[in-house]
Amino acid sequence: MSASWLKDAVFYEIYPQTFRDSDGDGIGDLQGIIEKLPYVKSLGCNAIWMNPCFDSPFKDGGYDVRDYYKVAPRYGTNEDLVRLFDEAHKLGIKILLDLVPGHTSEENAWFVQSREPQKNEYSSRYIWTTSTFEGAQGLPFIAGEYDRNGCYVLNYFKCQPALNYGFYEPKQVWQDAIDAPAPMATRQAMADVIRFWLDKGADGFRVDMADSLVKFDGPNKEGTQQVWRSILMPIHEEYPEAAFVSEWNKPTQALNCGFDMDFFLEWRGNGYSTMMRDFDETPDGEVITANGGYFAKNSGSDAIRFLNDYVDKYEETKDKGLYCFITCNHDMLRPTAGLTEDECRMAYAWIYTMPGAPFLYFGDELGMIHRVLPTKEGSYRRTGARAPMQWHSGKNKGFSDGDAKLYLPVDDRDCAPNVADQEADPDSMLNFVKGLIALRKAYPELGNYSPFSVYSAEPGSRIFAYKRGTMLVAMNPGTERLELALDGAYEAVYTIGQPAIQDTTLILPEQSFVVLKTV
Ligand code: NOJ
Repeated sequence: MSASWLKDAVFYEIYPQTFRDSDGDGIGDLQGIIEKLPYVKSLGCNAIWMNPCFDSPFKDGGYDVRDYYKVAPRYGTNEDLVRLFDEAHKLGIKILLDLVPGHTSEENAWFVQSREPQKNEYSSRYIWTTSTFEGAQGLPFIAGEYDRNGCYVLNYFKCQPALNYGFYEPKQVWQDAIDAPAPMATRQAMADVIRFWLDKGADGFRVDMADSLVKFDGPNKEGTQQVWRSILMPIHEEYPEAAFVSEWNKPTQALNCGFDMDFFLEWRGNGYSTMMRDFDETPDGEVITANGGYFAKNSGSDAIRFLNDYVDKYEETKDKGLYCFITCNHDMLRPTAGLTEDECRMAYAWIYTMPGAPFLYFGDELGMIHRVLPTKEGSYRRTGARAPMQWHSGKNKGFSDGDAKLYLPVDDRDCAPNVADQEADPDSMLNFVKGLIALRKAYPELGNYSPFSVYSAEPGSRIFAYKRGTMLVAMNPGTERLELALDGAYEAVYTIGQPAIQDTTLILPEQSFVVLKTV
């Protein structure tokens, strides 16, 4: 059983570095987030996922944790984080922290001890081979850095040694079984971190690279699933209102081992990307539009590639948890990189009328653009999605009132969208997004767990229509006037463009979207 609040959870993702700098040092902080909680609430969002805020050398934006138990001083203190939980709760907002269970920073105290040649409690907390000269059986590794004999395995960047959760079928003396003492101790250590922050008032975690704990895992990640089940099941018992969302992108696995939610990510060419980010990029982050995806007006695409990827997974997991759509995240190109504002509106209308808990990435509600910027703290091509939030048209666009150099440059164009201007404009993207979230709240049949079934999607057709309970959602992102036969009497409760009902026919002119309820 998942936390009861997930039923109508609508998430907002905050990258703490660049959301709001309250003390003028050029970098965002927890107090800045606290200041802006009423803004998050005004959107209609009632939950936040905040990217890692823990002590770190920041070689990967904080996904290289030096101390799981300490807030990074640049963001504030542990007390500030508890204050953030308290202030959010007063407004009815839940907070998910970001758990990085697969690796730490190479500066983490566990690793500092693990690399010592003398055997100690942490020697096997990470994966070490027995010889410095023979590699790690195809796993990425580092050799020759420390006095300890052997190579250590990496999980992501060079700064991120892999924690030891064992091997599904160990074949070498240095490979532990997943239930050997050292991997069991790693599990326990991660469960301790989770409990520590839940006890302080966190409402759960987004879990980084959740699928990759056990090495050389079985075909369905059986080992990693087993590890999560053993960590999460007792935690769900003790903290029934805690929620966990995995970066896994396979709900059939993730929702089977204790996660309440899994993300549908943009992994290239998959169903999600064919809808709103069917574009490619150069290694420098230059966008080369393929065709923009289904929501690009002139793409001619249908919804079939999406449905082929989505429907079976949805059907198999709909009673187990939520398979969630995102506008974007801190690793992706902002949707505006490939879609116009009108096209984005259509795409967002789709996200907010689908099942799963929707996730809005900060700034997407303004239509912030994706700029190609120099890399910062291991961001590389992801930098463009991590630039500062634009609160108003004044100094630093309201991100920081100070004179310090900013973490990343703000979009200083006069025309750059900002919250203050958009709040005052009824037709703005911001008010459009608020309208969508309000629509979802007004009709429980559009909610997170409410059923979904395809009503119309044909190869080559620009029409995509689906039922949510008794409601019907239909759209035409293309250029032609199209018609769809209705299966009963309906009236429109939400429209984009000029859709119309004539007897039992729905007319969908160019770039139109409609939500119908039965009459
Ligand atoms: C996924 C995170 O979203 C990303 O930002 C990070 O670089 C990697 N995992 C490694 O932790």
